Amino acid sequence: MRKRKTGFMIVPWAAVCLAVIFSAYSPGRALGQDTGEALFKANCSPCHPDGGNILNSKKTLHKKDREAHNIRTAADIVRKMRNPGPVPTHPQEWAGMKMFDKNKISDEDALKIADYILKTFN
Ligand code: HEC
Repeated sequence: MRKRKTGFMIVPWAAVCLAVIFSAYSPGRALGQDTGEALFKANCSPCHPDGGNILNSKKTLHKKDREAHNIRTAADIVRKMRNPGPVPTHPQEWAGMKMFDKNKISDEDALKIADYILKTFN
């Protein structure tokens, strides 16, 4: 009978542990929403998964390609977001990059994304 009593103590402990785990997770996720990484994944990853480029394999976000096209600093990357060049013309020949103006991505967030690219894709 003694053994059984200690066994029951596990139930409230498990409840406390679960509560701690859940409360630790949810605010962490909310805070993670506007990091450069999260913003990159939400806005850029569809065309640039892992820093690549699904539409133009010569224009990836890796250092070698970027620098070959004179994109060296965070400001250069932000400029590309604001003015990516020729717009996509036809769905079947959709070769251009989508434009991100200040309403879509603020200057602050654009810089966070640029920093993430510079430090991640070398
Ligand atoms: C709809 C697909 C698409 C999305 C979404 C997209 N890009 Fe691009 N990106 C492209 C294409 C296509 C090019 C090549 C454009 C060109 O001809 O210069 C490109 C080029 C670039 C380049 C220049 C790379 C090089 O080597 O010259 C940078 C930097 C870049 N994108 C950053 C971003 C960032 C940052 C985001 C998210 C905010 C983003 N892109 C979202 C399609 C996309």
